Order: sequence, then structure tokens, then C-alpha cells
Amino acid sequence: MLHQIVRQPLLHARFINALARMEYTGVRKMLKARSSQSLDVDGLQHALEEASHAYRLKKFALQIAAEAASEVQTFAARHCLGGDAGESYLQTVDHACEAELADLTDDGRTDLNYLLSSALIEIRADAFYPLYESALREAESPISIRGILKDEERHLAEMDQRLHAHIANADQRIERVLALEEGAFSNWLAAFDADMHAWLASHRAEELASSN
Ligand SMILES: [Fe+2]
Ligand SMILES: [Fe+2]
Repeated sequence: MLHQIVRQPLLHARFINALARMEYTGVRKMLKARSSQSLDVDGLQHALEEASHAYRLKKFALQIAAEAASEVQTFAARHCLGGDAGESYLQTVDHACEAELADLTDDGRTDLNYLLSSALIEIRADAFYPLYESALREAESPISIRGILKDEERHLAEMDQRLHAHIANADQRIERVLALEEGAFSNWLAAFDADMHAWLASHRAEELASSN
């Protein structure tokens, strides 16, 4: 699927815009969840780096869309491959983490939720972004997400280390929510796939109409 997306600039631009939206939604959730009382310099850096991922991906989407930049102007569903499905993915991960931590006392639970949900998303990013990067290199694309991937690897190491320092049975908890995250990610991929096929079908119909 990634190889097919990367070969079609308009489809690809909408795909990158969907990733940019995810990074942006991640930052928004992070800022909302983290209180000034517990935010340290690493937390601030994490939010800034995720915001820079959103910005860099947005710029890539505009670069790939070229003269069709209006196709990826906003993060509205019509400008993103898979529509709103990315946001549903984040909601599902969030709720799964909340449920997993429900047995803990209120004290610091919001911060633990941030660590757990971030760890899950970073695990996914560290699995998915390398596949996307190799599809980019194979297609000799002018863009690269290697820099973003490096940040995500560092984030995962940090989340993992902090989770283990602050929570009992961290590995078991991660395993349990990962099983739910996998289902949510498959749904997101299915939305990409359905949107891509709809786009290819309408594109072919337009080509046929213009050749007649
Ligand atoms: Fe990111
Ligand atoms: Fe990250």
C-alpha cells in the first residue's frame, strides 16, 4: 500500500498531511493533559519536537502536492488520506490507557497516562516510519523522514524508562494496551486503503473521461 501511495503525488500529499495531523493532534493532547505542576524540560522538549514533526510533515505535504497545494491546505477530513480515522486511532489508544490505569490513585495518573499513551504511539511510529522511509527511498522521493524517526526513537526510550521507574508491572500494562492499539491501527490502515482505492477509481474515471 505504501509503495502505491508514494507513486501518486496527490494521494501521497494527502497521506503525509494525515501524518502531520496525527503529530499535531498528539501535541494538542499532550498540552491539554500535562499540568504546569509536573512539566519538566523533557516534557516541554517532547511537545516542541512533536509540533516540529507536524510542521515538517505539513511542509512535505505541500512540497509533494506542488501546484495542487490547496488539496492539503487544512487538516479537515477531505484534505487527509483516511479522513478522520487517524484521530479515532488516537482516541482509542487514549481510552485504552485510561482503562488500563483505572486501578491507580488519582495522584499522578494523568502523567502516567501521558507516558503510557506516548509509549504506545512511539512504538507504532518506530515500526511504521521506517517502512515509510524505505518506500520513500525506493521511489527516490525528494523527502525523507529520517530526522523525525530519530526523535521518535529517543522519545520511546525516554517514555519506556520513565514508565518503568514510575509504575509497577509496566511491561504487562504495555502488552495489554498494545493488543488494543493493534486493532485501532488496523482500522486506520483500512481507512487509508479504502480512501486510496476510492481515489484511484475516481482518478481513473477522470482520465477515461478526458481521453474520450
Ligand atoms: Fe512525532
Ligand atoms: Fe514522538
